[in-house]
Amino acid sequence: MSEKQIRVAVVGAGRWAERAHIPGWQRDGRAEVAALVDLDGTLARKVADDFGIAQVFTDYREVLDDPTIDVVDVASGNEAHFEVSMASLEAGKHVLCEKPVHHDARETSRAAALAESKGLRTKLGFTFRYAPAIQYAKDLIDQGFVGTPYVFNGYEQNSQWIDPQTPLRQFEHTPAGSDEIAVSSIEGYGAPIIDIMHWWTNSPITNVVGTMRNFVPDRMLRSTGTMERMNIDDGDMWICEFEDDVMASIQSSYVTVGNYPGIEARLYGSEGAVIVRLVEEFGICQTIKTATKDSVEFVEREIPQEYFPEGGNSREPWPFLFYSNLIKNFVDEILGDAPATQGDFAQGALVQRTINAFEHSYRQRRWVNFSEVEGV
Ligand SMILES: NC(=O)c1ccc[n+]([C@@H]2O[C@H](COP(=O)([O-])OP(=O)(O)OC[C@H]3O[C@@H](n4cnc5c(N)ncnc54)[C@H](O)[C@@H]3O)[C@@H](O)[C@H]2O)c1
Repeated sequence: MSEKQIRVAVVGAGRWAERAHIPGWQRDGRAEVAALVDLDGTLARKVADDFGIAQVFTDYREVLDDPTIDVVDVASGNEAHFEVSMASLEAGKHVLCEKPVHHDARETSRAAALAESKGLRTKLGFTFRYAPAIQYAKDLIDQGFVGTPYVFNGYEQNSQWIDPQTPLRQFEHTPAGSDEIAVSSIEGYGAPIIDIMHWWTNSPITNVVGTMRNFVPDRMLRSTGTMERMNIDDGDMWICEFEDDVMASIQSSYVTVGNYPGIEARLYGSEGAVIVRLVEEFGICQTIKTATKDSVEFVEREIPQEYFPEGGNSREPWPFLFYSNLIKNFVDEILGDAPATQGDFAQGALVQRTINAFEHSYRQRRWVNFSEVEGV
């Protein structure tokens, strides 16, 4: 009999499961990764052995029948997110899922509603909201440090695919060779900074406008290893208006020079401003700087230890550090130790609806009112 309070099945044994999900769960003394599932049984066995995970499956449905599994963690490729999440919720499991749950916000809302109707907890893989610097900034904002928010600037960018030879997964809803620019960086990369925008500005979004570009046309297609015309958005810019008097810009790209993860979030208000950078530079993965209207030079702040997972520091690899905090928060929520649910499927639906509104704006070359886009 396990003494752990929460037993988890991780679905997907790829790179991200190895770097973030499994180490994150294993860092939390209250949780145990009891099973690992991957379509590729050999990979699942290898990763399970590396991490000391007892059970291995190639079909996720096997863990749904196990009443001792409390949580299903969907760390698979995007194509399985929705199916596995819905089936797991139906089976009464709490679900952590990588983004997006579904490309269509309406489907993500359906998953959120199912979870709510069954009293289950959900969480999206919005890694960066759980960075200690971002959580600390949110508390400063809530305590009134910036005053009335005026302007949010959000960037999610690095140079991961600036080299056309770096293999890229084709987004499943747009075949290689299509003439239409397919949503790629704004969904795969932009989602976490859109999440932070909504969280920090804390006001209903009303209108959006913006554009996307394809800077590197021919790329190495990951599934075939051949160079193909891949007409995807590898850079884009958006403007958002809200019910309150705040406004925001979002820039996302994976062909802009800079290191991982490449997040920068800024909030300027009537009293002060906060700038958080999550860019790994010289061994440090996060910084927070603040200024006030009376002291306008930005000063770096030390992040209090309470914002870190136990023993954590800013020199840890960012996937491990941020994901440990995400999982700590999810375990708190499941065990009833955290007052609110943050970054859940309902928030995922809001982020997805924002992306859907952006896409609408680009395709129709106009401002889009948020009410035109269904989903939450
Ligand atoms: N939040 C973040 O910062 C972040 C960072 C990197 C990746 N991701 C996301 O994490 C997910 C995994 O990324 P990755 O780089 O590890 O991909 P990957 O291709 O290395 O691994 C995905 C694994 O899922 C398995 N899989 C697919 N369908 C399955 C199914 N139905 N049942 C069981 N296994 C299945 C595949 O066999 C593969 O081994 C993606 O959705 C990706 O977008 C998020």
